[in-house]
Amino acid sequence: MKFDSVLKRLQLPISYNSSIRIVGCVTSVAGCFVTASGCQARVGDVARIISNGEVLECEVIGGGKEFILLPCNGILGIAVGDEVEFMGHEPMLNIYVDPYSKTLDGFGLIDNLRPSSIVTATHLYPRKVPVKERDIVSVKYETGCPILDSVLPIGSGQKVGVFAGSGIGKSTLINMLYKNIRVDIKIVVLVGERSREVVEFEKKHLNNNQFGETIIIASTSEDSPFLKRRSVYIGLAYAKYFSEKGKEVLLVIDSLTRLAHSMREIGISRGEAPVARGYPPSVFSELSLIVEQCGAFNSYGNITAVMSILVDGDDSNEPVSDYLRGILDAHLILDRNIANSGLYPPINILASRSRVVDYTLNENERRIEKNIRKVYSDYNKVRDVIDSGLYQKGTSEKIDALISIKKITEDSLHCWGEQFDDNVREEIDRYVENF
Ligand SMILES: Nc1ncnc2c1ncn2[C@@H]1O[C@H](COP(=O)(O)OP(=O)(O)OP(=O)(O)O)[C@@H](O)[C@H]1O
Ligand SMILES: [Mg+2]
Repeated sequence: MKFDSVLKRLQLPISYNSSIRIVGCVTSVAGCFVTASGCQARVGDVARIISNGEVLECEVIGGGKEFILLPCNGILGIAVGDEVEFMGHEPMLNIYVDPYSKTLDGFGLIDNLRPSSIVTATHLYPRKVPVKERDIVSVKYETGCPILDSVLPIGSGQKVGVFAGSGIGKSTLINMLYKNIRVDIKIVVLVGERSREVVEFEKKHLNNNQFGETIIIASTSEDSPFLKRRSVYIGLAYAKYFSEKGKEVLLVIDSLTRLAHSMREIGISRGEAPVARGYPPSVFSELSLIVEQCGAFNSYGNITAVMSILVDGDDSNEPVSDYLRGILDAHLILDRNIANSGLYPPINILASRSRVVDYTLNENERRIEKNIRKVYSDYNKVRDVIDSGLYQKGTSEKIDALISIKKITEDSLHCWGEQFDDNVREEIDRYVENF
């Protein structure tokens, strides 16, 4: 029994250079981490605890006289005195030859089996991308949603955040983008999602490689914070691998907030001070490192990133949303009131921004985008009077025009599979000329 379980653990795909192996022992077990003594190790190094015959994967996350280890699968079963092997190097990830249309777990495994054939082993944790390798985002993707294609374009190599409170439609929007954007490789990382959503995603997108090969990496809500965080790095490592092969990659992460929650748990275990709503400072620098791995590159394939961000309590100033809004190339803000009125995707145009409009839209498209924004902005100024019922039809020619144009604009923007209606565009042009 013990031997079987050792063998099973040895089939992990995170590969190890087993030449260096220094032995220590567990000195305490508390919270979600373990302390160990007995040797020198570096932060980020791989360690293994041999507990009751089982090999448990860990990483060194800090230390003083003793080392703090974070076991991948939680602390259950670990005892003081268990043997610890320090492997003397950081984790490596084995890249499968054929990961397409498959679901990998937080260890990077398909069906919990050792890869029968691998292409290469790569560092699990990425290095900073040099600025000289970057390019501007200039090629627009057709998403099939007029609100995105006309007002908030998504370009190849752009980093897009979908921000909303719970249950407004982040995952549904991300699913549609995943389906419609045409790239060579599509990688989705489902972090801390419900298992049901993973199955739904598989049903919708596996074997549907019409617009690119699909790879799913899923770490569901019951997984340890460590596995959730690791699943994102596995997604990034695959994205990087294919991008370096010249492939256009779409990387979807749902959700970045759950990743931040896992990082918060790890940071606090490490003894960091919780400074902003419980988030230690390392969470923000690690989020930047992850986001900055994506982008447009001048000598290899672009990595376009679409990530969902749960806005805690619908408070858009909560620290993670606020920070991510600042570092992403686009923020799409979903609005509960728009969703309640049945308009999907419920993107709030005035609150959302794409920072690549100047490079991805031509002169005419840019003019249309500005005109649509003007209609929404003008409507917003008189919204209270209209909503309160105080406005009498016929009192103002401008407001009468606005009311009818806003309605037809909304109807032709909030939909999928259509182009922005030419008649509506002409109406908007006339409104802007006259008022
Ligand atoms: N395009 C759409 N058309 C109709 N209904 C939709 C659409 N998008 C979302 N909804 C409704 O909103 C609900 C929640 O959507 P979704 O799961 O995408 O939200 P979410 O923001 O990802 O939620 P959570 O925060 O729980 O992850 C759906 O179950 C569906 O009822
Ligand atoms: Mg969701």
